[in-house]
Amino acid sequence: MTEQFPHYIEFRHVYKTFDRPILVDVNFYVDAGETLAIIGRSGVGKSVSLAHIMGFLKPDQGNVIVSYNDVTDYSEQEMRKIRKKVTMVFQSGALFDSLTVGENILFSLELRDDYNETNKEQIVDGLLNMVDLLEYKDVYPSDLSTGYKRAVAIARALAAQPECVLYDEPTTMVDPIMSDHLGNLMLRLKKQLSLTAVVVTHDLDLMRKVADRVVFLFEGKAIFFGKTEDLEKCDHPHIKEFLAMDRVEIG
Ligand SMILES: Nc1ncnc2c1ncn2[C@@H]1O[C@H](COP(=O)(O)OP(=O)(O)OP(=O)(O)O)[C@@H](O)[C@H]1O
Ligand SMILES: [Mg+2]
Repeated sequence: MTEQFPHYIEFRHVYKTFDRPILVDVNFYVDAGETLAIIGRSGVGKSVSLAHIMGFLKPDQGNVIVSYNDVTDYSEQEMRKIRKKVTMVFQSGALFDSLTVGENILFSLELRDDYNETNKEQIVDGLLNMVDLLEYKDVYPSDLSTGYKRAVAIARALAAQPECVLYDEPTTMVDPIMSDHLGNLMLRLKKQLSLTAVVVTHDLDLMRKVADRVVFLFEGKAIFFGKTEDLEKCDHPHIKEFLAMDRVEIG
């Protein structure tokens, strides 16, 4: 934390236009150890916001602060260092079908030279244990449900020992029981690892469970940014409508 950058991640007056304005003067932040939910209807710029955090996209105007650094003008090489600390869990999981669950995790550790082989085995087991999947170590991803694949993807992301994880719609297309399970997992990681997180979601139960703060995007603007419990008190008509559609998948 520095005086200049008091928040772990921060958007300062971020603008981004493609064929139409997507982000217009968007401001929000996440403090270390906190979880921020980005919510809003389909096409509103939620995934685009995550891409700005990862440095895959650059703002037209404004500043993006990540890991207490202003990364707005960072080169690809500088961004690579940031991506060691901030990692993304992709919805598909991006798992290798020809490798078992355990081998998939091991593969992510191969790139690290600070562990020996015995260590790596222990770390794989530790990571699988962390996501409650140790018994699935020798199973192939194709034999797992979508929800379990997401949990493996989370374990794989954790192999890099990140400070912060970005989740894009982690509970889309999974049943309510698995959604709840993934939510509990995210909460456990937050508590046990003090992991900072940004979660894009349509799932209001998940938002209520894991998010400390929420940013609600609507027509390019962040029409709400604040504590999760204060979202419910907000009387903006679009937010009320969104909250009324509780549990309806609109992605
Ligand atoms: N690289 C790009 N080039 C041009 N347009 C893009 C690009 N990325 C996203 N867009 C457009 O920006 C808009 C916002 O996209 P984004 O993927 O952030 O939506 P979203 O809020 O994540 O929606 P969903 O809930 O459907 O995932 C969309 O209209 C999309 O087509
Ligand atoms: Mg999206």
